Amino acid sequence: MEPPGQPSTSTGAFVRSDKQPQSADPSSSRSTLPHIRPSDPDDIPICVSLAEGTQVFTPPEIIGLAEDLEAIHMGLEPDDRVLTCEQGGRVAGFAHYGPADIAEGTWYLYWIAVRHESHGQGLGQSLLQRVEQEARDMEGRLLLIETSSLPRYEATRKFYLRGGYRQECVIQNYYRDGDHKVIFSKRL
Ligand SMILES: CC(C)(COP(=O)(O)OP(=O)(O)OC[C@H]1O[C@@H](n2cnc3c(N)ncnc32)[C@H](O)[C@@H]1OP(=O)(O)O)[C@@H](O)C(=O)NCCC(=O)NCCS
Repeated sequence: MEPPGQPSTSTGAFVRSDKQPQSADPSSSRSTLPHIRPSDPDDIPICVSLAEGTQVFTPPEIIGLAEDLEAIHMGLEPDDRVLTCEQGGRVAGFAHYGPADIAEGTWYLYWIAVRHESHGQGLGQSLLQRVEQEARDMEGRLLLIETSSLPRYEATRKFYLRGGYRQECVIQNYYRDGDHKVIFSKRL
């Protein structure tokens, strides 16, 4: 689910949200506000585990994710970046993005995932917005996201549309027969 010559990632994306994370106790809202920072190597097993917990990715995709994150932290993909989202002092999500080869100012969101029990609180949109801002700051013009047409990605596709992405094209039977690649894009 990755562009040619890019890490062996699957689908992924991010956006700005008008929602704020909810806290049952208003006095604890400060600790539950999401904090987005560059990832560090200690995050890798946590990010892989939370991606696995979403039950969206296949075992080979999870292996590919671990390899991608390790490669980045080893400096093998110097242009790629990984952001970690913490909530309440706990890693709650992450995003991996990087520039497309050859093109000028075109970026890919390779991976995005939020801990299953934290879905629907705006963390994904916060991560996506941060990716967009960082890409913009590096003269990014266009952010592309690739995902699958399978029913289990329906909420994910809705998430991208809600973030202002448009469905650019569908490559029929790309991943396997009946599993098409859906490409979303957004001008930054
Ligand atoms: C896609 C994902 C990153 C979104 O993160 P999130 O923090 O749940 O998203 P937000 O709360 O910011 O936005 C919620 C919106 O996304 C959509 N959404 C996607 N998955 C959702 C879920 N499991 N629960 C609630 N909303 C979800 C909804 O359409 C919702 O829109 P709404 O506000 O109009 O109801 C997250 O659901 C996830 O990790 N999914 C599994 C992994 C995945 O699919 N990664 C991308 C592969 S291409």
